[in-house]
Amino acid sequence: MEVQLLDSRSGKKITNLKGLSPTSTIEDVKKAYFKQNPNLYPDRQAYRAEQKGKILKDTDTLSKIGLQESGKLYFKDLGLQVGWTTVFLTEYAGPLVIYLSFYIRPAIIYGAGAASQPVSKAVHIAAACWTFHYAKRLLETVFVHRFSHGTMPLTNIFKNSAYYWGFAAFVAYFVNHPLYTPPMFGDKQLYAGLAGFIFAELGNFSVHVALRNLRPAGSKERKIPYADSNPFTWLFSVVSCPNYTYEVMAWTSFSIMTQCLPAGLFTLAGFVQMTIWAIGKHKNYRREFSKYPRGRKSIIPFII
Ligand SMILES: NC(=O)c1ccc[n+]([C@@H]2O[C@H](COP(=O)([O-])OP(=O)(O)OC[C@H]3O[C@@H](n4cnc5c(N)ncnc54)[C@H](OP(=O)(O)O)[C@@H]3O)[C@@H](O)[C@H]2O)c1
Repeated sequence: MEVQLLDSRSGKKITNLKGLSPTSTIEDVKKAYFKQNPNLYPDRQAYRAEQKGKILKDTDTLSKIGLQESGKLYFKDLGLQVGWTTVFLTEYAGPLVIYLSFYIRPAIIYGAGAASQPVSKAVHIAAACWTFHYAKRLLETVFVHRFSHGTMPLTNIFKNSAYYWGFAAFVAYFVNHPLYTPPMFGDKQLYAGLAGFIFAELGNFSVHVALRNLRPAGSKERKIPYADSNPFTWLFSVVSCPNYTYEVMAWTSFSIMTQCLPAGLFTLAGFVQMTIWAIGKHKNYRREFSKYPRGRKSIIPFII
């Protein structure tokens, strides 16, 4: 059969692909077009059945989307792509290096002699927490997550890095400042924040492992996540994205521990962003799985 490719923006014809059959998948279409146009590798291509329709999955067959003897597909060029691992490593290595650069109190930023002034216990503990968090994320990116997408647009690297690197510098500048004042309630506040932070990091890690276990290696399978024998995964009973819940909890604890406004603003920005994503993911779960548990919220149990 022959499939006509049309540009998804202009609607104009691009080319015809021959040698496909109703059982061919979108992945086969991508490979066929790649043979014609070697600049457009499969990860760079996206297809829709309707000009404004949703992006088709690689596993969708032509017959499933109503193409039998012939038909048309709308093609979108996703632009230059980079591997997810590269994106995440760039995003997360930046905050580590930037934060620790402020921690050593460079004279160029804080003035000569800043490094020799006394450093509060809260500052040391905050640096340890920050380092732990981003080292954990780097290791999880490489060893835990099983992403379904091979790549993402190159431009995302700049957008995401600006967010993480910018906030790292903003928080680090104030927490490591020689004029930083330790938390008002002293050690009680410091250790309560630290305990909350450790608890939330353990929870976040547990949820990432539970999500990994949902997907067999090398597959793109998606399943309904449920609480397992690890008590930290219990949050799955009440929210769809407990990894985000724990992440917000970790940064709230960090803000309490350091009692620093920029840390609070970082927490707020992360909370807003993760709430938007969690609501989207929650809606997807409900659309995708007819038996999705009714009682769950997106990110904050019983509320959002
Ligand atoms: N501080 C901040 O502002 C901030 C913002 C965002 C993220 N984060 C942190 O980074 C972590 C990772 O973020 P993320 O947005 O990538 O998390 P995510 O969307 O929840 O995904 C984590 C991993 O689990 C997989 N997964 C999710 N649901 C699944 C399901 N139902 N079945 C099978 N696999 C599933 C995902 O695969 P897919 O590739 O298919 O999605 C991905 O590999 C977060 O948990 C959070 O700790 C922090």
